[in-house]
Amino acid sequence: KIMYSDKVMDHFLNPRNTGDLPEADAMGEIGNPACGDMMRLFLKIEKDVITQARFKTFGCAAAIATSSILTEMAVGKTLDEALLISKEDVAAALDGLPPKKMDCSNLAADALHQAIQNYRLNKS
Ligand code: FES
Repeated sequence: KIMYSDKVMDHFLNPRNTGDLPEADAMGEIGNPACGDMMRLFLKIEKDVITQARFKTFGCAAAIATSSILTEMAVGKTLDEALLISKEDVAAALDGLPPKKMDCSNLAADALHQAIQNYRLNKS
């Protein structure tokens, strides 16, 4: 049986910032081919700062929890700061993930990076 930290369980059972963001300025979508799980991340961006983030994730407990904490980590950051958020940062913010589940935190970090890239492409 996989043991999760209390923080993972909290974010899995009470995920923050779920759902659509109708006026989103950016969207990132990432799937994990290994398991078929996927995450969609929506951002509101004002003057290069992320002001709101919401997500929709079909996935395991780790995927939901990492998506949830990622939205909290991203808000208030500039786009350049947000690009520095790694999957290790996401896992660490949840007091760690079981080794087998580390890849699940890729979804959140990659979706964030992709949303920012999409945003910059659309603006240029
Ligand atoms: Fe698919 Fe966790 S098992 S993201």
